[in-house]
Amino acid sequence: MAIQTIPTRAFEGQRPGTSGLRKKVSVFMQPLYLENFVQALFDVLNASADDGQGLQGKTLVLGGDGRYHNRAAVQTILKLAAANGVQQVLLGCGGILSTPAASAVIRRHQAFGGIILSASHNPGGPEGDFGIKYNAGNGGPANEALTEAVYARTQVLQTLRCSDAADIAIDRLGRQQIEQMAVEVIDPVADYAALMRELFDFEALRGLFARGFRVRVDAMHAVGGPYAKAILEDQLGAPVGTVVNAEPLQDFGGLHPDPNPVNAEDLMVHMAAADAPDFGAAMDGDADRNMVVGPNFPVSPSDSLALMTAHARLIPGYRDGLRGVARSMPTSAAVDRVAQALGIACFETPTGWKFFGNLLDAGRATLCGEESYGTGSSHVREKDGLWAILFWLSLQAATGRSVETLVRAHWARFGRNYYSRHDYEAIPVDVANALMRDLRASLPDLKGQVLGARRLVLADDFAYTDPIDGSVSSGQGVRLIFDDGARVIFRLSGTGTEGATLRLYLERYESDAAYLNLPVQQALADLAAFADQVAGIRRRTGMQQPSVAT
Ligand code: G1P
Ligand code: ZN
Repeated sequence: MAIQTIPTRAFEGQRPGTSGLRKKVSVFMQPLYLENFVQALFDVLNASADDGQGLQGKTLVLGGDGRYHNRAAVQTILKLAAANGVQQVLLGCGGILSTPAASAVIRRHQAFGGIILSASHNPGGPEGDFGIKYNAGNGGPANEALTEAVYARTQVLQTLRCSDAADIAIDRLGRQQIEQMAVEVIDPVADYAALMRELFDFEALRGLFARGFRVRVDAMHAVGGPYAKAILEDQLGAPVGTVVNAEPLQDFGGLHPDPNPVNAEDLMVHMAAADAPDFGAAMDGDADRNMVVGPNFPVSPSDSLALMTAHARLIPGYRDGLRGVARSMPTSAAVDRVAQALGIACFETPTGWKFFGNLLDAGRATLCGEESYGTGSSHVREKDGLWAILFWLSLQAATGRSVETLVRAHWARFGRNYYSRHDYEAIPVDVANALMRDLRASLPDLKGQVLGARRLVLADDFAYTDPIDGSVSSGQGVRLIFDDGARVIFRLSGTGTEGATLRLYLERYESDAAYLNLPVQQALADLAAFADQVAGIRRRTGMQQPSVAT
């Protein structure tokens, strides 16, 4: 084995988006494409480690969601790591680690950081997407300063350092060596499961299953399957078959592993059937997202966060209460009302889990959530699908109440934030950019406009000042806020790989008991029409309706 120096070149488009670098598999498979990005990352880490030692003596964690190209990418990254001074890599067996598990492993082993191979909920397979992101020593996504530095480095890099060692056996637990670097192949589930046992009352959950409580968890042929089987079926005694589509497949069985009512349609059908299980849930490609559903009763992610906040003290890990909560700006304000009632802080951040990291690290927030089916807590620095499922199971075990009863009681007490997200996918990039540009330009004229009984009191482009490090992130989405709290929000997706995706978020609050049970789209129809009127969505995109409305 020897370390080679190999010439490389700049590639277009290696700037990470909302969550790492995501591209089509075919883009990642271009010679040197992945190598260039990883070498840039290692160069930045080597230049920036606080102790001046760079990656020397450091441990990195490595694993991914098992999608197509995961195994080959792991071998490539190991050879680059070995040539760039890394002392040890903790590699999930088979190259597998769910995103929350990777975060847990980084934290439990006090690793310097970790590389996660995932394109999350994007489809996989040779025609699908691949992705890579770096998480720092707190277990959370790298901040913007670091991702920007990596991007800048990708553009000027001229050589790679790479070992020419043979591939290692990534399916064999235990220690192997590449150059001077140790590769410790670890059980991907063990650390994560240990963490879940610390947070939740496993005895109570065993009791729930022993009493015949029926659950259907749809792992969507993604990485969450082995985690859910190990914890729910092996450790908590749920019947075999509780976790369906549990076998991870490189192309997710051709499905779109995004746990929402549209893509997890099969779960919705089961939960609407006459003999529906008591509780249903699904996770995404890398198992950080979750959707929870009662019989014939989906829970909106924003409501899920609000309910978790309201009932957190029922869970051993949160028995002493929450330090605070945080939600992304487009997420509904349902949790704000709970935080106010509890007398705890509620932070509003830009979209993307990385913005929660500082608040969690500083102990200012304990629970965080996004409308995009993401909830999590200070136990890791990622959102966590199975954690959310265990949380909801625990709530049902502790209260003896069903999902629907819990949610309706919540609305009766706090009121309901009707909420929906409309996605317009695969719009030509220039059309999407022009729409946002013109909308931004029109903001000064919008204030004061009247829609029925409400008046627009704020029209701006959301900017966030991080309360911990003072960094400012601007241009985070156009907000139109009415005097009754109703909101219309526009932003472009930062995770897509085809054209642009316009996300339109609609919300309105209702406290009148007589109006808590309207069909969601009907309750928001006037806001949707207003959004179309001010942004010209249909006219500009030629789309008469959103591709997905959840
Ligand atoms: C989407 C979601 C966002 C989430 C991200 C990563 O980003 O909207 O909440 O953090 O995926 O899972 P977007 O495509 O909107 O930039
Ligand atoms: Zn994900």
